[in-house]
Amino acid sequence: MSREKQGEAERPIASLEAVIRSSELILTCGPGGVGKTTTAAALGVAAARIGRKTVVVTVDPARRLADALGLDDGVASDEPHQVMGVTKRTTDGELWALMLDAEQTFDRLVREQSGSRKQAEAVLDNPVYQAISGSLSGAQEYMAVERLHQLHVSGDWDLVIVDTPPSRHAIDLLEAPDRLVGFLSHPVYRTLTVGQRTFAKITDAASSMFLWAVKRLAGPQIVEDTVEFFRSLANIEGGLRHRARQVSELLRGSETAFVVVSSPRAEAVGEAEHLLDAIADKKFPLGGLVVNLIHPMPEPLTDDDEALLAGIDTGPLGDQLEWHRELTSLANAERQELVDLKRLAGEAPVIELPLLNVDIHDVPGLVGLAERLV
Ligand SMILES: Nc1ncnc2c1ncn2[C@@H]1O[C@H](COP(=O)(O)OP(=O)(O)O)[C@@H](O)[C@H]1O
Ligand SMILES: [Mg+2]
Repeated sequence: MSREKQGEAERPIASLEAVIRSSELILTCGPGGVGKTTTAAALGVAAARIGRKTVVVTVDPARRLADALGLDDGVASDEPHQVMGVTKRTTDGELWALMLDAEQTFDRLVREQSGSRKQAEAVLDNPVYQAISGSLSGAQEYMAVERLHQLHVSGDWDLVIVDTPPSRHAIDLLEAPDRLVGFLSHPVYRTLTVGQRTFAKITDAASSMFLWAVKRLAGPQIVEDTVEFFRSLANIEGGLRHRARQVSELLRGSETAFVVVSSPRAEAVGEAEHLLDAIADKKFPLGGLVVNLIHPMPEPLTDDDEALLAGIDTGPLGDQLEWHRELTSLANAERQELVDLKRLAGEAPVIELPLLNVDIHDVPGLVGLAERLV
């Protein structure tokens, strides 16, 4: 046996199942449209089926997936509720789901960090807060990890799985806690909360990103409300910073696993590679790589087939042959595209999921996907 082969044999076989068994927090992240939300739900199903009490925080489930998880409009979805019919009777695992509501999460955070109800209300009742709490740059990402923290410390769950918001850059999620700290240290924020506030200072600052959001509000009260808002926020600043640090630590903890999801499309692969680099660089724990939406490799033609089909290039059989060639070359190109990405996953398990010809929108569909994942 060659040394290489021996090395391979000795390498521990990491599986996604081991990750689901041992982690307390899992975050699915990756480029847009590759199946992050679907994977988060399927991981939840897999975890419940091996006996864990699991909650999945979804962000933007496709309509029918939301229905399957019981997250339809009629249900107050910010609080977890149980998804029925996924667990085998032989285990006592449970699957619960909720839909991230960034504003409610932010409200909860403000209430928790405020010294008094009055202090909390000063922030929460401010029209500026109400206008920007859901639209602050990066707020969705921060609130996703904040909700993860809230659910984790509640002690109610064996495993919390968080889907990530569709953002311009998948990496935004990793940086969310640092961004909150950055926001609190931003010169504009400091101008508004420290020392004498003058109209001039505020208009100077108007180009900043968050005041841009504020500016869209009409009304003469705006400047006063804005100043008042930042003043009231200053009361809980210490708390916010502390929490951001806790969240940042939690994301790097041994109980956490990031599962990167990608498709084989060149653009997605590029972004996923960038994300894997960042995860390694910033020392976040990588739990696995899921490559979704892969075209299955067609059965190769045998020599006999080739001989039989030689010279046929028209008619239905010719079309079939052409299709077979195209699919083979697409499947090959995809596998080529994935070589570097898989290498970047290092020791973490890599799971490939085929492009299915049906949408995954119900519990049996998720169970099928869960079985492929673990
Ligand atoms: N392996 C697959 N085969 C076929 N369709 C899939 C597969 N994985 C996901 N989908 C579909 O692709 C769409 C996008 O998936 P979604 O999980 O919402 O992606 P993301 O959260 O990354 O934007 C959904 O309609 C989903 O049902
Ligand atoms: Mg999604």
